[in-house]
Amino acid sequence: ATQTILPGQPTRVLKYTGKLLRGPAGTLSELPDSYLGPLLRFETGQKIRINLRNRLHGPTITHWHGLHVPAEMDGHPLYEIAAGETYVYEFEMRNRAGMNLYHPHTHNLTGKHVYQGLAGAILVNDSEERRLGLPDGEYEIPIVIQDRRFDGQNQLVYASHMHDRMMGFYGDRILVNGRPDFQLDADARAYRFRVLNGSTARIYKLAWDDASPVTVIGCDGGLLETPIDKPYVMLAPGERIDVWADFSGRKVGTRLTMRSRSFSGVLPGMGERMMGGMHGSALPVGGDYPIFQVRIARPAGDSPALPHKLSTIKRYRPTDTANPRQPVPIGISEGPMRMVLNDRPYAFNDIQPGERIQVDTLQTLEIFHAHGGMGRGGMMGMGRHGMGGNMGMMMAMAHPIHLHGQQFQILERDTAGVSADYASVKDGFIDSGWKDTVLVMPGERIKMIKPFQDFKGLFMYHCHNLEHEDMGMMRDFLVE
Ligand code: C2O
Ligand code: CU
Ligand code: CU
Repeated sequence: ATQTILPGQPTRVLKYTGKLLRGPAGTLSELPDSYLGPLLRFETGQKIRINLRNRLHGPTITHWHGLHVPAEMDGHPLYEIAAGETYVYEFEMRNRAGMNLYHPHTHNLTGKHVYQGLAGAILVNDSEERRLGLPDGEYEIPIVIQDRRFDGQNQLVYASHMHDRMMGFYGDRILVNGRPDFQLDADARAYRFRVLNGSTARIYKLAWDDASPVTVIGCDGGLLETPIDKPYVMLAPGERIDVWADFSGRKVGTRLTMRSRSFSGVLPGMGERMMGGMHGSALPVGGDYPIFQVRIARPAGDSPALPHKLSTIKRYRPTDTANPRQPVPIGISEGPMRMVLNDRPYAFNDIQPGERIQVDTLQTLEIFHAHGGMGRGGMMGMGRHGMGGNMGMMMAMAHPIHLHGQQFQILERDTAGVSADYASVKDGFIDSGWKDTVLVMPGERIKMIKPFQDFKGLFMYHCHNLEHEDMGMMRDFLVE
């Protein structure tokens, strides 16, 4: 699963034909003309061996984001291998059907490595999903959304000024599956879009430009119980949604665009307008811009119908857990030049009492902003960009918090502490399925339940704004 870093030819406009190469489970198929890693397809129950050969000049290790694997197979930075070495992964696929991803978890270098192309998608299939007869083959389209910045030679630019690290690094071009101006020539029938936010920091508010609802059939951990229609979906780095899009009845030649719509409140002060717009090109974080376009190219014969019932999800309740009253705390602490969890920057062998978890238990957890946010902390290295004057009004940031190991269920969002900006994102959360990454807005408290079964050892939890992760906004749970 290694891949050479190739920046490619970002200005060449390529049309995606909609052909997704399909092989038997476990075979690698490429996303055509892309710097992304190969698409991996697996089957639930399959035994898997993957050799990671490190052809980089420095250390690396690969993490299988979303997969329930033993600690030694999870890509913890403890297991980094040096240039030239090989790491052999062996595990059984315990996940149900769903879209997951893989990327390096190299200490302090995750953001940079993902940015340069060391990431890819994983699709897991199972018999439950297959029985539904959802669109597949050329009608099942992976959509990996990333933002990138290119220099005059079309090479990737990744900066690490303090403001890029504090806010996250934002590109000024949107790429889908590694390519700009992504367009799909579609039949007038139903499609399944497997959407992954593979950006290092950018958060999207996905909506169809003709105001038709986004029909969501799955999220991080696979299918929902029933489809839900959303006006838009918030998708933070590391999150996935499974979208049903039925173009039946649309005339040949019609175009439909998936856009990211305007929102505010995820960056402090003027952040959304500044970031992404400050390096000569305008793609502000909270702006309104296209992601990809669908052009109805052909009429269609028959099309599958959207199933009313997709799956069954056993709901857990606090009383099922080992700690109904005392959730495991995940406190987001923001301070001057500092983004951490539970007040401690990441360090190896630094397990705190609240981070020891007994194996084979269900736990409640609670994520919250521990302090008032960086506003009170004062400067965060933004002064020279004119942010200084807004310090008094600054809010905290939104953070996509990701937990390794098994996926969790969201119990409740307590929004008593959020600002008025919350209204611009509040209808975009998919909380009814299994999740492994959750966007936590400033002032919000989120309660959830997570199983810690089968495997002992270190399982990380961290912010999936990868610049934050690399600054140490990461901790370990020790399951024992
Ligand atoms: Cu996708 Cu620990 O990360
Ligand atoms: Cu992960
Ligand atoms: Cu963060």
